[in-house]
Order: sequence, then structure tokens, then C-alpha cells
Amino acid sequence: MKTTRTQVGIVGAGPAGLMLGHLLHLAGIDSIIIENRAQDYVIERVRAGVLEQSTVDLMIESGVGSRLQLEGMPHDGIYINVFGNRRRIDMASLTGRRITVYGQNEVVKDLIAARCSTGRPVLFEVSEVSVHDLESGQPRIRFTTDGVHSEIRCDFIAGCDGFHGICRPSIPANRIQIYERIYPFGWLGILANAPPSSPELVYSLHDRGFALFSMRSNSVTRLYLQCAPDEDLSQWPDNRIWDELLTRLQSNDGWKPTVGPVAQKGVTGMRSFVTEPMRYGQMFLAGDAAHIVPPTGAKGLNLAMADIWRLSRALASYYTSGSRDLLDRYSDDCLQRVWRAQQFSWWMTSMLHRPVTGNPFDSRRQRAELEYVTNSRAAMTSLAENYVGLPIEESISERIKR
Ligand code: PHB
Repeated sequence: MKTTRTQVGIVGAGPAGLMLGHLLHLAGIDSIIIENRAQDYVIERVRAGVLEQSTVDLMIESGVGSRLQLEGMPHDGIYINVFGNRRRIDMASLTGRRITVYGQNEVVKDLIAARCSTGRPVLFEVSEVSVHDLESGQPRIRFTTDGVHSEIRCDFIAGCDGFHGICRPSIPANRIQIYERIYPFGWLGILANAPPSSPELVYSLHDRGFALFSMRSNSVTRLYLQCAPDEDLSQWPDNRIWDELLTRLQSNDGWKPTVGPVAQKGVTGMRSFVTEPMRYGQMFLAGDAAHIVPPTGAKGLNLAMADIWRLSRALASYYTSGSRDLLDRYSDDCLQRVWRAQQFSWWMTSMLHRPVTGNPFDSRRQRAELEYVTNSRAAMTSLAENYVGLPIEESISERIKR
């Protein structure tokens, strides 16, 4: 068995694990990142693409934002298409903040480049990962790489290995509480080689269900359709997908997405999920390992970045002063933002999807809600301030006090 030592052992090289390694490096703290997937897989997997202002600020201030500043697409507003009537919510004028469209895989690319330039280790394609002695002062990570069994002894473990990772299930079931809701629909998503025909995202509710128009660049659009959670992709040839997208997105003002070749397609289920607390002994969970939101509010990646910012600050405080205060507060502090985002994501999801058990009362009520949200300045401001995201430092209670 090959044994190494580090201060923080990080499980998972997605945006959370890589950003943690980066912020710890800036604070002079040693870490080893391990990941069971291959580097190309981690970079290529298509994920979300909307960054809150605070995520953008974190990347720029920590020195990994130069390509984001050049290639990211700042958006001041979004459209909501209510049964054919497309209305704009001007988030920038309502909140003074904006979002930036930049693919999660681009974030990962930038963070891998930053990690590699530091010479600190990030090991891809490791297998048989397990975590041990989590309640002791010296937790351990075991894994196999190139057939060699290895062990990392650390002061702390960061579980950044996503919803299906091994860190959360390594916590005894009686030491955490899980809150979960599974939705009766999924999203069929495509990447299309077609220039975006709208400079901003279009969220649409049509009698046939939800659809979303988004983008990745000046030549690539990203589109989604509400479907069954276990939708069979083989029933969806490209022309059927485009027919359905055009039907659900087209608006009375003549707008519609530009059709182009489909470069990639997939189906994702939708769930809301929270683990409390986000810590067990010396192991801290961050990002999807601790919580999942349905994608309608575009909050997943941003929540992960907010967790990581707190965790890096808490670890830096421990190593400079010996104080465990911020570590002890980590879970409670993160969960405030997590539950705000959970509520917002649940709300956006229920407001914008066609209910599966069609009670006509609910359809009318839903339409009334959408009319309100797209016409009342107060309601638009509420949506906008959640969508662009609160500053990371500002807790909800601080905001309520103002
Ligand atoms: C995306 O571009 O992939 C995207 C945008 C907005 C969402 C979800 C996904 O709410």
C-alpha cells in the first residue's frame, strides 16, 4: 500500500473539488484531488451554463476568470413565454446584477488548467475509492490507481463527488437527515449547431409542456423539453424534437429558435434533495454530494461554488488561527442558502411545468401566477433577485433585517 499525506483530501474533480483545490492553493494549503472518471469525460460532460454574479466574481477574484471574461455571455434579462406571449424580465434594472452564460465544462477546463499549473496533484481514473476514520483527527481516503492500492492520510476530507459519489453514503444513516422530492417529469436536452436567435434565455410554458431555449456560444444553442422522467430517447428522432421545440417555444411576436443539426441529446430526471448536516466528523460535503436542485432555477453549480467558498474560508481560518468556529458553522451557513435555492427551484419548476395530474383548477391558477410574475414589478423583482443570486456573504437573515 502506497501512503501519502496531505492537509485536505478532495474526492471529486468536478467544479466543486477543483475550485476547492484552487482556493486552498491560494491560501497555501496542501491538497490531493482524486476523481474516478477520466479527465476528458469530466471536461466534456454537458451540464448547466448559467453563472450567478457571485460565481463570476469568485472566478475572477481567484484568478481563473480570464477566459470567462472574454468568452462568457453576460445577460441582463430573461424571457418568459406564457402560452405564446413572450415577456422580458429585466434583471439588471430590477436588481443591479446579471447572470453570465458560460458552460460548466468551460469552468472545469479553466480550473483543471489552474490546478495543473500549480503542480499540485489531481489524479483521474482512480477506482475503489473509500473513506475511513471520519470521526478521528486523521481521516483516510483509500483508492486504487494503475493497479496500485493507495492511501491518503489527511486532516480533513472534502466530499465533492456528486450525488452518486461515495462520500455521503459513507456517513452512518442515523447521523444525517435526508429531505427529498422527486418530480414526475424530466428534461430532454439537446445541443444544436445553430446560432441563438434570441440574445437571452426563453423559459416557456405551452399547453404541451415546458420548454427552454438557452445557448453556449454564438453558434451553439442548448434547448430542453419537459418529458417523462424515463423518456425513451430512441422515440425522439431529431425532427420530432425540433417540431416539439418549435411548437412549445414559438411566440406570438414571431420569435422562434433557429433549427440546426443536433450535436448531442440526453434525458435527465428532476429531484430536490438536501442532506443535513453537510458534515460528519472531519468530512465536509459540498455541491451535489450534499444537495440537488431541479435545473429550472439554474442554481446547482452556483450553490456548489458558494459551499466551496465557505469551506475554503473555514479551512484557511483553521490553518492560520487554529479556530474551528467557521468549520463548525459551515453546514448551518451553507444550508441557509441551500434552502433558499431549494424553495426557488421548486417554485420555478412547479410554475413552469405542465402538471401531470391535470386538475383544471391548477392550470388556471398556474396561468394566473405566470401573468402576475411577468406583469407585476414586485413579482418580477422577487424572481430576478433569486435568479441572479444573493451575494455569497449575505445570509438571508441579514437581508431580512435590512
Ligand atoms: C442551460 O443553459 O443548460 C440551462 C439554462 C437555464 C436553466 C437550466 C439549464 O435553468
